[in-house]
Amino acid sequence: MSKTATLEINGQKHDFPLITGTENEVAIDIKTLRGVTGGVTTIDPGYKNTGSCESAITFLNGEEGILRYRGYAIEDLAEKASFLEVAYLLIFGELPTRVELDKFHADIKEESVVDDDIKKILDAFPKAAHPMGVLSSLTSALTAFNPSSVNVDSEEDMYRAIVKIMGKFPVLVAWTMRKQKGLPLDYGDDSLGYVENVLKMMFKKPNQEYVENPILVNALDKLLILHADHEQNCSTSTVRIVGSSHAGLFASLSAGISALWGPLHGGANQAVLEMLEAIKEDGGDTKKFMAKAKDKEDPFRLMGFGHRVYKNFDPRAKIIKVAADEVLGDLGIEDPVLDIAKGLATEALSDEYFVKRKLYPNVDFYSGIIYRAMGIPVEMFTVMFALGRLPGWIAQWKEMRTRKEPIGRPRQVYTGENHREFKTVDDR
Ligand code: ACO
Repeated sequence: MSKTATLEINGQKHDFPLITGTENEVAIDIKTLRGVTGGVTTIDPGYKNTGSCESAITFLNGEEGILRYRGYAIEDLAEKASFLEVAYLLIFGELPTRVELDKFHADIKEESVVDDDIKKILDAFPKAAHPMGVLSSLTSALTAFNPSSVNVDSEEDMYRAIVKIMGKFPVLVAWTMRKQKGLPLDYGDDSLGYVENVLKMMFKKPNQEYVENPILVNALDKLLILHADHEQNCSTSTVRIVGSSHAGLFASLSAGISALWGPLHGGANQAVLEMLEAIKEDGGDTKKFMAKAKDKEDPFRLMGFGHRVYKNFDPRAKIIKVAADEVLGDLGIEDPVLDIAKGLATEALSDEYFVKRKLYPNVDFYSGIIYRAMGIPVEMFTVMFALGRLPGWIAQWKEMRTRKEPIGRPRQVYTGENHREFKTVDDR
């Protein structure tokens, strides 16, 4: 294959190097485009064709339904690794040895207490506040309690910042839910595993002994692994771009949480359950809602179907569908909303509109179902996604800062008014 791409503009030819990734993905390197063409730029709304960086963290191939973290298949990691191992892998590049993993966990536990004044901030929010808004604010507030900036040239400084946020974030997640439910804040029990403790911090009742449910621990562990990274998606790109201005790690993460909140991204898992509830309230006619989704005059979309990158199937959805069946079976849950979900999935998979457009259930279609079965309130679903995505955001931020990437600052094509004469207010 040729090593350059040639672009002809106004009769002038310009060569641009082609770069090839380790999985043979080819990209045209246009770093010199504006310089050599005298200011010509590219336009690509939604960045459907634009690579923002080179990255060694996550590989995904939407056509073939492949997802790998640092070279390891998501199927292997979901089956054989724990969330904490996966977090270590994403952030530091290799799977940890037993000693490394134990140290990582011990260091995280050491940092897992938040300043008590965080409770005052939490207290000031109304109970009805959306947990994603609360989580984003509390994450940002951590900056105020930990003002020293990270020296990105110091491995020790980087490591400290990473274990700090890995330790404190689950506390914020759990407290966000406890605030909404009016439960007293709780630190759980740091003799437990990372995920075990998250569940205890969330669900422990003040007047009851907490009893761990291994089915729920296993399901949550898998869900967090499946959500842990997804290369340059909307929230991750946000974390990288905010971090590229050298804003701190916590501020960058807080921005990522806000990006994740939207219903076209992480908010989809909440939107899925709200859609299923609405279908149930309406009498449960899935065919009616299938027709609405296909009607171009109707803004309704089947939430939890389709994906920007996976145009074949979402490999995470395959794994999580099995986990959803296990959780529902093991917990003996019968729920009309879940029956509607199954009906919709079956119909969509054989419907010409969905098949032709390659619209398959995505990971969020099933994650919402599991979270509901676990007793997690709908508004907390995206918060759980954020907990899973945390190591991915950290890994991407670390990669961006250690590679000394330039500040993210896209261009535009201006389509507004040309120069106009200014008239004072009385002359208009
Ligand atoms: N229901 C009905 N039709 C759909 C759906 C859907 N969920 N998704 C896409 N389509 C249709 C579009 O109308 C379009 O049809 P057309 O070609 O006739 O105009 C075609 O499929 C292509 O859709 P696009 O919007 O161009 O696809 P894009 O890649 O831009 O969007 C997205 C992907 C945003 C995920 C979209 O499929 C969607 O809105 N899905 C529902 C929301 C959702 O589940 N989001 C979660 C994503 S996963 C995650 O963030 C972890």
